[in-house]
Amino acid sequence: MSQLPAVLERLSTDEPAAIARLMDWLRIPSISTDPEFAKDVRRAAQWAADHLAASGLRARLVETGSPAGSGHPIVMATAGDDAPPDSPHILFYGHYDVQPVDPVDLWSSGPFEPVIRPSSGELGERIVARGACDDKGQVMMFLEALRAWKLATGKPTAGVRFTVMLEGEEESGSANLERFLLEHADALKACHVCLVSDTGMLGRKQPAITYGVRGLSYTEVRLHAADQDLHSGLWGGRAPNPNAELVKVLAQLWDADGRVTIPGFYDAVRPLTPAERSAWKRLAFDPHAALKKIGLPPEADRGEAGYTALEREWARPTAEINGISGGYTGPGAKTVIPASASAKVSFRLVADQDPAVIRDAFFDFCRRRTPPGCRWELMDHSGGNPATCSTDSPLLQAATSAVLAATGVRPVLIKSGGSIPVAGMLKSICGLDTIFMGFGLDDDRVHSPNEKFELDCYRMGARSHAAFIDALATSKGRSLK
Ligand code: BES
Ligand code: MN
Ligand code: MN
Repeated sequence: MSQLPAVLERLSTDEPAAIARLMDWLRIPSISTDPEFAKDVRRAAQWAADHLAASGLRARLVETGSPAGSGHPIVMATAGDDAPPDSPHILFYGHYDVQPVDPVDLWSSGPFEPVIRPSSGELGERIVARGACDDKGQVMMFLEALRAWKLATGKPTAGVRFTVMLEGEEESGSANLERFLLEHADALKACHVCLVSDTGMLGRKQPAITYGVRGLSYTEVRLHAADQDLHSGLWGGRAPNPNAELVKVLAQLWDADGRVTIPGFYDAVRPLTPAERSAWKRLAFDPHAALKKIGLPPEADRGEAGYTALEREWARPTAEINGISGGYTGPGAKTVIPASASAKVSFRLVADQDPAVIRDAFFDFCRRRTPPGCRWELMDHSGGNPATCSTDSPLLQAATSAVLAATGVRPVLIKSGGSIPVAGMLKSICGLDTIFMGFGLDDDRVHSPNEKFELDCYRMGARSHAAFIDALATSKGRSLK
């Protein structure tokens, strides 16, 4: 007989205490990119390890970086170690680090002082704090499902084999992850699939399984001219202005149809299949309503010609200027030609584009357009490979059934334009596919002030994880691999 009803009952009676625990975790400012917070990052890792240990998993912190300990630790835990050898083995991945909080004055309460507020315009409540959705709140859905299984039945994963891996550098470029995966490849290859809760749903009442994320190549280019800032009256018209020259080069990145002009950019792009195009057209998604929620009119539905908004986000690569700076940007006027100007330029990639190939092609694009008398400084800030998982994998089907059982709504299959570097690395290093079972909403303000996570979403996620464990446990004898 299924033990799931008892576990779901436990999740429900325990929910206020679970939310209080999540708030404790959210109070730890685990900002991975800022060395000042290194101790807090470690504290957040230990907090998660303690939670896992209290549910009966074998949990430890593994040092990363070289020398060891120079990176943020990875939380590793295992359960179901004595399961029969043919039973499914799931790798759960999440991240406990968070983005910086700036601009801090736009927060209506402290980023690390979580509060519960009514959901605006909807029934229900939300939790507001940095990391509420990305990704502590979503990892917590899984941690609390294990805890409820343990309390209701004595076994956190119903005897199913799980490996848990929680990263502390996802928001700062995953610099030490690849090496960690290579060092632990043998253990990780024993898993059948990776499960991640760090993506979103299609809408508040429409859960989704995400079967692919885009990759990323992130660069910074600086254009140098004179060896000093110049008076623009004396030198304007006599010497190159790096601000003007830089924007002229960058403006050539797109043609009139919104296509990226870098030679070879689309060479490795797998074309959209007719099956995907028609499946996505059937999704209940209104691009104009989505634009309205961010203050844009319907005519802002712009991008590469010939593709719908979802196609452009999920299946087409893009170029973005994420930041641009040079010269005088303070109050008032200053007549100056700066010595240099710079831009952060990144590319969202789809299968089978390679971040290193795209970076080199972009650098080449810049070099061929070097303005006379100027010089480039070209820098690479990591990224990640795109990752797609086959939609007919039995484990993806099991996740679909679990979400249906837990929420009463059949999840739709979607992709996401965001990037989660671990997925591409697991595929190339260990041959593992990744299934994304996420419960965020597109108005959760991840990476922004007033990040929030709806308690309704938390509840759906925790119940779905509990139901997924049940589906795995009751599959014994049938192959789910
Ligand atoms: N969880 C996000 C990515 C995401 C968000 C995917 C929503 C799908 C839906 C992740 O933490 C993130 O921010 N990733 C970065 C990647 C980077 C820092 C290498 C991104 O996508 O910009
Ligand atoms: Mn995330
Ligand atoms: Mn993020």
